[in-house]
Amino acid sequence: MLEVREIYKTFNAGTINEKRAMNGVSLTLADGDFVTVIGGNGAGKSTLLNLVAGVFPVDSGSISIDGQDVTRLPEHKRAKFIGRVFQDPMMGTAATMQIEENLALAARRGQGRSLRAGITRAEREEYRELLKILDLGLEDRLTSKVGLLSGGQRQALTLLMATLKKPKLLLLDEHTAALDPKTAAKVLDTTEKIVQRDKLTTLMITHNMRDAIAHGNRLIMMFEGRVVVDVAGEEKKNLTVEHLLGLFSKASGSDEADDKLLLG
Ligand SMILES: Nc1ncnc2c1ncn2[C@@H]1O[C@H](COP(=O)(O)OP(=O)(O)OP(=O)(O)O)[C@@H](O)[C@H]1O
Ligand SMILES: [Mg+2]
Repeated sequence: MLEVREIYKTFNAGTINEKRAMNGVSLTLADGDFVTVIGGNGAGKSTLLNLVAGVFPVDSGSISIDGQDVTRLPEHKRAKFIGRVFQDPMMGTAATMQIEENLALAARRGQGRSLRAGITRAEREEYRELLKILDLGLEDRLTSKVGLLSGGQRQALTLLMATLKKPKLLLLDEHTAALDPKTAAKVLDTTEKIVQRDKLTTLMITHNMRDAIAHGNRLIMMFEGRVVVDVAGEEKKNLTVEHLLGLFSKASGSDEADDKLLLG
């Protein structure tokens, strides 16, 4: 579903701020793979997701989504394949609009249909059903303004909107990091439910090693713009935090298992 081949990216090339953020990453995701991504601050995790989404172009290498080479496609043309959720709960939804209007916008994405025609009764029923999976009671608040919701509620709604059109790829960049632990666990639980229900191919960045271990069928660790650990299947199931720290110190060449480095 995703094929990343030998991608490189250097920011501010030729200046004193030159930074090689992506150093020859290759990564292939099968349909339905749910991959958790860990690594210290500045390891290149967000850059990888941004390159896949087309936020900025790669310097070299190629990216294909579902067999289509998207390396030269601009971000807005890749958007129809991709659902994204970021760390900031304020980003994915429109605060001054109602819950149902936000959902209608997500549903109409790429269809050229505006909201002016209004939301039909059938659509409203569909949204009500969709919202139930969040288990937050939002199905009874369809006309509430999103700006009135808590950060966790907004993030859950963003997740619903990002997955409404069953994207070929779901990209999650620390989407629960700004939430309190209980709310974060709930949003993560919902993520798991939606990803399983729709068999979404997913890349999920997290700084929480336990979450990275508990979710997904595969885990990758990044360090200095490279993928240094890639575990799947039984090995992934049997991972422990201690084991991960060991893998990290081996990959980074430091003999102390510096969990701060990994956890950020
Ligand atoms: N748009 C940009 N312009 C210049 N430098 C950038 C840009 N985006 C990322 N970088 C640099 O590239 C490197 C990798 O950054 P990236 O954001 O991918 O790290 P990360 O693994 O997501 O870290 P964190 O855990 O802190 O989010 C860093 O040194 C960062 O400063
Ligand atoms: Mg990041």
